[in-house]
Amino acid sequence: MLKCQLLSEGDHMGTRRFKFSDSKPATGSWAAKASDFSDDVIKGPVVGQSEQSGKLTDIVNLFSERYEMLRKILRYEWGFKETTNINEVRKDKMVFKNRVINIIGIVASIRRTKSGGRMVEIEDKTGQMSVFISKENPAIDTLLPDDVIGVSGKFIKDGDLFIVDYVQFPEFLDTPRKMGAEYDPVSIAFASDIHVGSKYFLQKEWDRMMEWLNSDHPTAQNIKYIVFAGDVVDGIGIYPGQENNLTETDVYLQYEEFARQLDRLPDHMTAVILPGNHDAVRPAEPQPVLESLVQKKFSHAIHVGNPSRINLSGVEVLAYHGKGIDDMVPRMAHVTYENPAEAMKEMLRKRHLAPMWGERNALSPEETDQMIILQKPDIFVTGHTHAHQMEEYRGTQIIVSSTFQGQSDFMRMLGYKPKMGYLSVYNIQSGESQVVCFADQANPSAGYKP
Ligand SMILES: [Fe+2]
Ligand SMILES: [Fe+2]
Repeated sequence: MLKCQLLSEGDHMGTRRFKFSDSKPATGSWAAKASDFSDDVIKGPVVGQSEQSGKLTDIVNLFSERYEMLRKILRYEWGFKETTNINEVRKDKMVFKNRVINIIGIVASIRRTKSGGRMVEIEDKTGQMSVFISKENPAIDTLLPDDVIGVSGKFIKDGDLFIVDYVQFPEFLDTPRKMGAEYDPVSIAFASDIHVGSKYFLQKEWDRMMEWLNSDHPTAQNIKYIVFAGDVVDGIGIYPGQENNLTETDVYLQYEEFARQLDRLPDHMTAVILPGNHDAVRPAEPQPVLESLVQKKFSHAIHVGNPSRINLSGVEVLAYHGKGIDDMVPRMAHVTYENPAEAMKEMLRKRHLAPMWGERNALSPEETDQMIILQKPDIFVTGHTHAHQMEEYRGTQIIVSSTFQGQSDFMRMLGYKPKMGYLSVYNIQSGESQVVCFADQANPSAGYKP
């Protein structure tokens, strides 16, 4: 159950303290102290470090591998078996006329028809064919170029038109969320997009959070790990004119400052950091871990790439900064920057964090497609949108982690209001969530104030 603890400021013995509206003593899994439990961290595979030059053959291999991996998922997890391959179907359409045919293909292109349906070119290793998906089929709202799907349908007329009856995405089976007595009664906290070095960085709200994390509040004492899902610094040269919005123009000094801020974390908490599009690594995803010169500035943190799999006390966390959401927002009516959890659900359905090639989000052709979501995560977290959401979807806890950057002039121009200064806390034993708010949304310490 989600409950938001709103903080209020007050003076206590001459020092600034915060009162918590929820003063009831913690019970059950929330009552445990994280300091009584040891760290148990297993990092997943390294990402973004293979030696690829981005040649056409690298890109072809990447798609071929993606097709094979997702085809296996459709076959073995969904029992979706191809009747035959595209070349065979096209060779003799009359043989297959009026028979139900299953094909697994990668979407090469999508064209809207006059009737409101979609004419979709799908491709396998033997060829390409057109299939028609009617406007009544819910798949048309979410289908993207480069998706790997199974289609089931029939040829009509003289074998001229293949009509799709249903589309099978390689999504995860709906299984119960993992929790219970076999897990330590501790919590994982999530924040992202701190943007240290930006003039919009919410120092005051950040200080409040640090004070709370070091307080004797039971929820703060229950937090074992804190995951920062990218954009921990504002970086430099990310967009034209950025230097006008910085308080620190040296990215190494920005990291030094963030590292100093993390030194304030209590000893019982371990920070996990991944890069985002503002960080000092290549922008193409998958992004490698921060370079060792930067890592050395941090005394305790665990550094991983973007995206990354990391097992925290037995719970599988998929952490992704979330730049792939930029490509979904313009193409799916139900995906917005205010509601990025819908994009995350689509990623889980497609088993891929950034299916489209060559759009806003740059991808690197690694030897294996590291953006595929092979195993179901227990927790799936993103940042990047400066929104905040916590939802459960088919047994996965979805977390859109909040930001500690105020509304920039650019966001204001777009009419976008960030959800600032929320800390998402998830107890891995009870599966319950809490949200702690450190910012007055109407009156943040930095950025535009209404
Ligand atoms: Fe950000
Ligand atoms: Fe970002």
